Amino acid sequence: MSAKILRGRVLTFVDEPQGADDNSAYRYFEDGAVAVDGGKVVAVGEFNEALKLALPKAEVVDHRPKLIMPGFIDTHIHYPQMQVVGSYAKDLLEWLNTYTFVEEQRFADAAHAARIASAFFDELIRYGTTTAAVYCTVHPQSAEAFFAEADKRNLRMIAGKVMMDRNAPEGLLDTPQSGYDDTRRLMETWNGVGRLNVAITPRFALTSTPEQLEMCQDLARLFPDAYIQTHVNESLGEIAFAKELFPNLPDYVGVYEHYGLLGPKTLLGHCIHMQDREIELMYETGSVAVFCPTSNLFIGSGLFDRQRMKDGNVRIAVATDIGGGTSYSMLRTLDEGYKVLQLRGQRMSPLESFYMMTLGNARALSLEHSIGTLEAGADADIVVLDARAVPHMALKMEHVDTLGEELFLLQTCGDDRVVAETYVAGEAAKAGLSADYPHP
Ligand code: GUN
Ligand code: ZN
Repeated sequence: MSAKILRGRVLTFVDEPQGADDNSAYRYFEDGAVAVDGGKVVAVGEFNEALKLALPKAEVVDHRPKLIMPGFIDTHIHYPQMQVVGSYAKDLLEWLNTYTFVEEQRFADAAHAARIASAFFDELIRYGTTTAAVYCTVHPQSAEAFFAEADKRNLRMIAGKVMMDRNAPEGLLDTPQSGYDDTRRLMETWNGVGRLNVAITPRFALTSTPEQLEMCQDLARLFPDAYIQTHVNESLGEIAFAKELFPNLPDYVGVYEHYGLLGPKTLLGHCIHMQDREIELMYETGSVAVFCPTSNLFIGSGLFDRQRMKDGNVRIAVATDIGGGTSYSMLRTLDEGYKVLQLRGQRMSPLESFYMMTLGNARALSLEHSIGTLEAGADADIVVLDARAVPHMALKMEHVDTLGEELFLLQTCGDDRVVAETYVAGEAAKAGLSADYPHP
């Protein structure tokens, strides 16, 4: 891990922006630099003699006039769904049954899982994402393959073996006991290794029996610091089915409440069709609502109500949800998020968007001291953005005068082409991606 000084225009958030012009929410250095060594940021600020003294022998990598930011964070994504993206279905349940539950069965094959895991990390890096909260499949070998590849690449990743013991094809079912045992073994093998964390991952209430949810609760007691990730209130058909399966519980979030699965490390995907009581419950437990705009639009699930969540003081994150989602890019994701909120009359400023894909998502994962920031001591996971990398964007840049305008252009038109480089633990990772694609 070689010492480097990355020179360029540096942007890092220090808090959630309160409005479009809140320049107290970030630090910005026009001729800035980030000094990195041993996989960590050791200094950030103006590119001057004092900063250079932090690492006197370091190579200076000149990224001017590009924008240097913390690597993007994706808080909900399914790596086994790379080959599900773009599947034509009328709604969530048809999409799951027709495509997703068929595709995921292929991950019983460890070699297939390894191939897709490698392609998956290539894609994240290509799009500037350096940390993700990831669903594997029900097969423990899918999680093994994922963690082995993430560890090899020195990435900070959170992932779990999906637990599901009903309402899916035979080849995709575990049992309460095997789901418990496999998750426990993964915890003991991988949690805390390198920069990896294992998440307790019941797919959603529809595919877990009460017995399985009880065993998830046992896991949550055994590993009280563990992440818990699942889905809730994504589509109306799903909610009606949840009501049939748990008729004695007050609502869908109430199922997870009943089994002790809510808390500050709980990530609930979607949260679109919410009851007031459910919002209250999420606030009281500190659970995180994960907004997945490209997925919600593509599957036709509904429009996330960010303002209602904010009014209820619920913590909010944002994510791609590949393969219901349609892009690996957090820029594309926030662009669609912007449009969802426009339709709701809830405009979101570019400062808020870029906060969300960096420090905001880091806070949602309780990792704000390690990622989502370029302050000294943070992991050196960094993205370098070039708003002039696409010809029509370069033309538009002739009329861009402010940082907010540049960010908004990057969000509205940007994708992997504007990601000039992605650093993982201080090492350039995008430059080294194989041109030989798709993977053999
Ligand atoms: N609900 C349960 N499983 C899934 C999934 O794989 N994708 C989405 N979008 N919703 C789900
Ligand atoms: Zn999902």
